[in-house]
Amino acid sequence: MDKLIDGKAVAAQTRDTVAQAVSSLIIVPTLAVVLIGEDPASQVYVRNKIKFTEETGMRSVEHRLPATATQTEVLDIVKALNTDAEVDGILVQLPLPDHLDTNAVIAEIDPAKDVDGLTEVSAGRLVLGQPGLRPCTPTGSVILAKTALGDLTGKHCVILGRSILVGKPAALMFLEQNCTVTIAHSRTVDLPAVCRGADILVAAVGRPQMVQSDWVKPGACVIDIGINRVPSLKRPGKFRLVGDVDYKPARKVAGSITPVPGGVGPMTIACLLRNTVLAACDRRGLERPPVLDI
Ligand code: GUN
Repeated sequence: MDKLIDGKAVAAQTRDTVAQAVSSLIIVPTLAVVLIGEDPASQVYVRNKIKFTEETGMRSVEHRLPATATQTEVLDIVKALNTDAEVDGILVQLPLPDHLDTNAVIAEIDPAKDVDGLTEVSAGRLVLGQPGLRPCTPTGSVILAKTALGDLTGKHCVILGRSILVGKPAALMFLEQNCTVTIAHSRTVDLPAVCRGADILVAAVGRPQMVQSDWVKPGACVIDIGINRVPSLKRPGKFRLVGDVDYKPARKVAGSITPVPGGVGPMTIACLLRNTVLAACDRRGLERPPVLDI
């Protein structure tokens, strides 16, 4: 049982730590959430983001636009939130409807309020090793790996996937933890052998159950970032969620492993809350609460 890295429990702990940090501040951080359209999954994410923002003692403001919103309408909301002195963090829920230019919307966000860590400034600071706001899913992955292993110094971390949102920033964040990092991807020669070299295997490719148990070094820590909807075998017409790792057999080999659901997923929101506190402190010239150190 103790092989399982319980993302729900670690996320609850992280939220408790955020609440403790918030209560130590002389101000109340505010997160603005922008939701465009009616995508059901996005609506659930946004509802949870708002719920947990308030549960940790922070304020939230919500802006909803119909799926037909124009680029100008979306940019105008972001610009207004940029100049609103009360707002510390801006989260534009992705994906945006197809007719909108996602990169242009992200580029409009004031980097000081970029709690998703997606702007060019945040990415540049990560590459340069400067303090800044780091993307939430990679942050959650680092916290889970440290929960399982403690100090990550010297561990060989193989990141499977090189996406802008997850794989690349995750590689840089495990490097910040003094790991030896390999980025593997679809063109890597002998992917199974490369993965078998990993002390920490981070799967972020978006291919259901691609990572087989013989890709896992015995005792390795497996962090599964994938969230894939596949047809349910037991209930025809229904779907179930699986990760990028073939969980059941991989669990027998791994030293520790995150499940899907209940692994990295819950950490993403917890790390968004953490970033909201960090942004509030940085913007207002307050020291970052030490309890939020990773
Ligand atoms: N959609 C799914 N996950 C995320 C996330 O972490 N941030 C944003 N902005 N949108 C998402």
